[in-house]
Amino acid sequence: TAPAAYENILTSTPKPGVGLITLNRPKALNALSSPLFKELNDALSKYENDEEIGAIIITGSEKAFAAGADIKEMAPLTFSSAYKSNFIAPWSYLSSNVRKPVIAAVSGYALGGGCELALMCDILYCTATATFGQPEIKLGTIPGAGGSQRLTRAVGKSKAMELILTGKNFSGKQAGEWGVAAQVIEGGKDELLAAAVDTASVIAGYSRVAVLGAKEVVNKSQDLGVREGVEFERRVFHAIFGSRDQKIGMTAFAEKKKPEWSNE
Ligand code: CAA
Repeated sequence: TAPAAYENILTSTPKPGVGLITLNRPKALNALSSPLFKELNDALSKYENDEEIGAIIITGSEKAFAAGADIKEMAPLTFSSAYKSNFIAPWSYLSSNVRKPVIAAVSGYALGGGCELALMCDILYCTATATFGQPEIKLGTIPGAGGSQRLTRAVGKSKAMELILTGKNFSGKQAGEWGVAAQVIEGGKDELLAAAVDTASVIAGYSRVAVLGAKEVVNKSQDLGVREGVEFERRVFHAIFGSRDQKIGMTAFAEKKKPEWSNE
């Protein structure tokens, strides 16, 4: 993928099949302004539509994944202006439209909207010293990009209430202990990114059809009851018998060979 000319993000392909997006607005600790999100969504849609890409990573700098929505942009908003422009709605592009797996690699601050962006991703890796939190209450507002819903599902109601009502931060180490992060990576930004790239590369090496199906069914668990969720899973499982890759994968197993996926 040829790097596009962005002002607030960088894109690259660190390994075949892996699309990396680095939030790059260092002067504002990667505060998630509307222009930044426009670029992020553009990069996500390019990777989503790029046949070569099988998994996506979003990361920031050593100091900040993202220090929140842009407070200076939000300060003058009124109810009417926010409502009419559907402020923050474009943030849902990631959770609603991106079907390829997205890994958040979090070092430094992931506060407010930064924490919410990380929680929107499918898999979260962080350093032990990463700083998460929903500090909106200190600004006289509340989480606006899904934090009240996703953090609550991740840590349970009591802890989410405590975090959101006090605005207290939690560490990467705690994120690991509470299951917010899939892995807490020893070391700094380089080790973190290497681990995320390795995982993204593993995922990108599987059948694209199976990967899309797996992400879709896991996500349904967040919205459906167990019985409907299991029924939905079974329908998708049945559907995947219609893919070439199911035949390729199971035949290769029987023949003790490595499957060569067709992505069909
Ligand atoms: N929006 C806009 N600018 C931000 C920002 C944000 N969320 N976070 C940091 N910046 C800017 C600062 O204003 C500062 O810019 P100037 O040099 O022009 O003053 C620059 O980034 C560096 O920040 P600091 O000097 O504050 O750096 P620090 O190391 O002393 O502190 C910090 C770091 C603790 C993260 C601190 O910057 C901070 O508290 N940031 C705000 C965190 C926050 O409240 N986030 C939630 C935003 S609300 C939200 O996200 C709503 C939602 O749910 C969608």
